[in-house]
Amino acid sequence: MSKRPIGIFDSGVGGTSIWKEIQKLMPHESTIYLADSKNAPYGEKSKERIVELSVKNTEFLIEKGCKLIVVACNTATTNAIDLLREKYEVSFIGIEPAIKPAALLSKSKTVGILATKGTLSSSLFSSTSANHAHGIRILEQEGTGLVPLIEQGKIETNETEALLKKYLQPMIDDGMDHLVLGCTHYPYLIPVLKKLLPEHVQIIDSGEAVAKQTKTVLERDKLLNNTTTKGGHQFFTNADVDILRHFLSDVPVPVETAYFDF
Ligand code: SIN
Repeated sequence: MSKRPIGIFDSGVGGTSIWKEIQKLMPHESTIYLADSKNAPYGEKSKERIVELSVKNTEFLIEKGCKLIVVACNTATTNAIDLLREKYEVSFIGIEPAIKPAALLSKSKTVGILATKGTLSSSLFSSTSANHAHGIRILEQEGTGLVPLIEQGKIETNETEALLKKYLQPMIDDGMDHLVLGCTHYPYLIPVLKKLLPEHVQIIDSGEAVAKQTKTVLERDKLLNNTTTKGGHQFFTNADVDILRHFLSDVPVPVETAYFDF
């Protein structure tokens, strides 16, 4: 058992969608969340740069005493998690697009995936996709431009809606019946996605599965916090603190927010 915090990092505010699932499942755990918004989007960067940023984020969280680290960013997971696991002793939880459940559920045998260029071009994504997609067509779509809009809090806007329409229509026309959200920022687009997608297209996101996996690993490593008091939560951002607060405005527990720079 350990009262030390769970560390969570993302290229910005998107990973708060994962943090919310973790907090819901394990309310007694304390957390430290790092939003590297200054360097968003990771999805357009080279693998080397994504690794460099992921190492910095990890060291920040390790220095703060985190007992496990959730890489709450698909692009950082697919490009850097193998190296992080080799370099540090702490356990890492990554976010992989939920292709497996989508492939199992699809009746049209056609699944769409919306993710960053960095995720779709990674070798980890190619192997996951090949492992789970037997007999299923996977339609890949880069979500270029979406992360910067979300980072600015521009969600239900004409600009965001027009970009999403452009990305979704070819996949709809091609028969997808499940859309996998391959970026932790994208769950914040669900209200707009629901407006644009036909009713038969289901949205699949990996937040709940990631929270369950985090709990399983903490149990395995005997690090689960078994106390009955609620955990404390600290959030750090190197960009606009008010934007981060906006994404946390619906959370049911007190959170502290602070600015950091690197
Ligand atoms: C990005 O920073 O480009 C998106 C992060 C992600 O892939 O989850």
